[in-house]
Amino acid sequence: MSRPRFTNQTVIFLTASAAAILAAYLFWSFEPDVKLLLERRMGADPSPSATTIISAVKLILLGIVGYLLVRALNFLFFGLAFRLKRIDAPQLIRNIFSIVGFTIFFLIAFTFLFPDVNLGALFTTSAIFGVILGLALQDTLGNFFAGISLQADRPFQVGDVITVGAQRHTGVVEEISWRAIKVRTFTNNVVLIANSTAAKEPIEVFPRENLNSRVVFFNTLYTDSPAKTIHVVREAVREADNVSHKITPVVRIRNLGDNGVDYEVKYWPEDYAKYNDTDALVRQRIWYAFRRAGLNFAYPTRTLYVERHTTAAMRDGKDSAIVERLSAVDLFAPLSVDETGMLAQAAVRHVFAPGELVIRAGDPGSSMFVVHNGRVRVQVNDNGRARTVATLNEGDFFGEMALFTGEPRTANVVALEETEVLEIGHAAMKRIFDNNPDLVESLSFIMAERRQGLASQTDSPVTASQTSAGILSSIKRFFGL
Ligand code: CMP
Repeated sequence: MSRPRFTNQTVIFLTASAAAILAAYLFWSFEPDVKLLLERRMGADPSPSATTIISAVKLILLGIVGYLLVRALNFLFFGLAFRLKRIDAPQLIRNIFSIVGFTIFFLIAFTFLFPDVNLGALFTTSAIFGVILGLALQDTLGNFFAGISLQADRPFQVGDVITVGAQRHTGVVEEISWRAIKVRTFTNNVVLIANSTAAKEPIEVFPRENLNSRVVFFNTLYTDSPAKTIHVVREAVREADNVSHKITPVVRIRNLGDNGVDYEVKYWPEDYAKYNDTDALVRQRIWYAFRRAGLNFAYPTRTLYVERHTTAAMRDGKDSAIVERLSAVDLFAPLSVDETGMLAQAAVRHVFAPGELVIRAGDPGSSMFVVHNGRVRVQVNDNGRARTVATLNEGDFFGEMALFTGEPRTANVVALEETEVLEIGHAAMKRIFDNNPDLVESLSFIMAERRQGLASQTDSPVTASQTSAGILSSIKRFFGL
């Protein structure tokens, strides 16, 4: 597309140059004849004289040749030499080169053809000329100097995306000329912003070489898990076209909104100029990822709470997963089906986000926990640094030490991922112990082992109260058994 245009332009340019040079050559060659012809036609003492007319024509012809020459030099210098060195000369610099080059050429030609006219005096004495020129060129000069300062500062370059002006025109910079900035908008229109306007307005620049971020919003129902949503959306977005692999997209909660949980996903497009398409693709990927993961977009809803009396059968149905979980816990293996059911009734479910503290060392505690889904880490303080002593998985329990001895919590317990735990309180455990005194004994063995584990991590000696027998008697005392 651009190749034939370039060839056409070159052909026109070469033809025009040849014609201008030929015209100048012919005029110079036939100058005496033309002069004679003019003098004959114009009479004895014409004003202006034939010589002046001939000089004026010569000046025009030289002006045309000079213009073409300057353009040719401009092309050779900036178009070829700069390109060879892989430097793209700004249009403004090329224009200034042409203007200065042509003016110098024109002045030389003028003094050569009109040696009697004093050019300096002509300009300096003509105050009115200066005022008129100044007023006429006020805007133009403003744009020109603003253009120069834009070129000097180089706050943006051709190819960058900018947002400028009160109307917030956004698009890709196509050209910075001596008069205006040419911006191609994302609806493929061209907006010309005068340099002097641009110099006064704040301009937001998204450089082409830079990774500029974009933010896309979405929401979910309150019942959808944040940890799952964040994971699903991050994985869906990072693989979309034009999303940079250099920075992983960030998904986070913006607001707990009226209709649902409001999120934003921040990503970094490789080519910022294509952000409209990429934003759309990101939204599309989120929709499909939601479909696969069973997540739901929130839309304006109203929740009606209907209170119902729960029958024992319904409760059994609801708690069957908890009963199953508790009966798989080693510690509760000796319990009868009824006792496990009772424990399940008393258990309260809690969900913790990744990294959230379930238990804080030193806090008082009157309940223990069973990991229902997820994983937790048990950590002790080792000279100001957190040291992990155990990782507990689904079906493992923790928090029993404080519950059974009444002492403060011995360690921090932190959720490693989104984790659901079942909390069992003092009263429920007492009922179980009353019926199963043997349970106290097996529990005291586990606790003694854990205590020794803790002692070895913190270099503290194992005291009598930390042995299995010591723990057994302290549980019995604490629960009044
Ligand atoms: P508690 O002291 O109530 O609170 C912290 C809990 O971390 C503690 O009960 C135990 O359940 C658990 N814990 C402490 N040390 C260990 C260990 N070495 N292995 C497994 N769990 C532990």
